[in-house]
Amino acid sequence: MRCRALGRTGLQVSELGFGSWGIGGGLWTDSSDADSLAALRRALELGVNLFDTAYVYGDGHSEELIGRVLRETGRRAYVATKVPPKNKSWPSSGGIAEAFPADWVVACTERSLRKLGVDSVELQQLHVWNDGWLDDPAFEDTRAALERLTREGKIRFWGVSIDARKPGTAVRLVRSGLPHAIQAIYNLFHQEPADELFPACREHGVGVLVRVPFDEGGLTGRLSEDSRFPEGDFRANYFAGRLLGETVRRAKALERELVGGDAPDLAAAALRYCLSDPAVSTVIPGMRRPTHVEANARASEAPPYPPPRLAALRAHAWKRDLAPA
Ligand SMILES: NC(=O)c1ccc[n+]([C@@H]2O[C@H](COP(=O)([O-])OP(=O)(O)OC[C@H]3O[C@@H](n4cnc5c(N)ncnc54)[C@H](OP(=O)(O)O)[C@@H]3O)[C@@H](O)[C@H]2O)c1
Repeated sequence: MRCRALGRTGLQVSELGFGSWGIGGGLWTDSSDADSLAALRRALELGVNLFDTAYVYGDGHSEELIGRVLRETGRRAYVATKVPPKNKSWPSSGGIAEAFPADWVVACTERSLRKLGVDSVELQQLHVWNDGWLDDPAFEDTRAALERLTREGKIRFWGVSIDARKPGTAVRLVRSGLPHAIQAIYNLFHQEPADELFPACREHGVGVLVRVPFDEGGLTGRLSEDSRFPEGDFRANYFAGRLLGETVRRAKALERELVGGDAPDLAAAALRYCLSDPAVSTVIPGMRRPTHVEANARASEAPPYPPPRLAALRAHAWKRDLAPA
């Protein structure tokens, strides 16, 4: 497993990190703890050293599973967790005092440490963000709280997880030089972060965690027009109506272009695409079974796509908007 610098933090993180929303259960209704624990153990064995989690992933369940496996195996790994917005608003809304008041940031961090069973996490992320908050007088209180947590050793670094498909809403923050890392959606459909956000991250030494590399499953090549999700599972809504068919059609076009030779399937090509951008520190696919961990860990063996290939892939960018039926 190759490692990359997490921005200017001095940490070397595995190119393949572990996305742990799914193992928390909740909106991923078909998770099994036995499979999840096996997947976490296999990831550690294969050199994965960064685990992305959040309190909201099953009200701390994802954090508990990660903490349990780290204790049981005795292995060292970096944990990135998140403070949920107090006003429960995804995407971000209101002032920063409504979303991330200082006492909330501290209390949520301490709650996550208890769930994980550790004294410190490497990265604490605000779970939503918009650059308007930089001009909010209350931002200083939130920032002071994060810096106090750092001085106290409860977190080593802080960053933000950017609102879905809005990479432009954190560019000013990156340019401020304040955060150590950002987390953003980046995949073969959503290529926009490569335009402005990622170059700014490189310039300012801000680490990049790439989330949703498989478009929640749409870029694995495993979905078909007949795929159905259990009631209450967020994917039933994410792929609702014509979105499923359009996703499958576009994934097949990508398969024709990318699969074969050194890419065994679309999932491998999707990870290779993410890792081709040098701004990316780690890509964190959601994994709930050891077989997926093993397949995804192999992505670290592939070379980056060459610039002409990346330019050609621009034609596959898609905003998940649909033409009228
Ligand atoms: N707002 C935020 O901060 C935010 C939002 C979303 C996600 N995240 C983070 O980013 C991580 C990744 O996003 P995500 O989990 O939502 O979506 P994702 O990584 O795009 O897709 C996860 C899906 O891919 C499947 N998969 C994984 N490896 C595969 C393989 N090799 N072959 C075929 N299928 C494979 C999984 O299968 P199974 O169904 O079998 O598990 C799951 O259905 C999350 O886990 C979380 O840590 C953060």
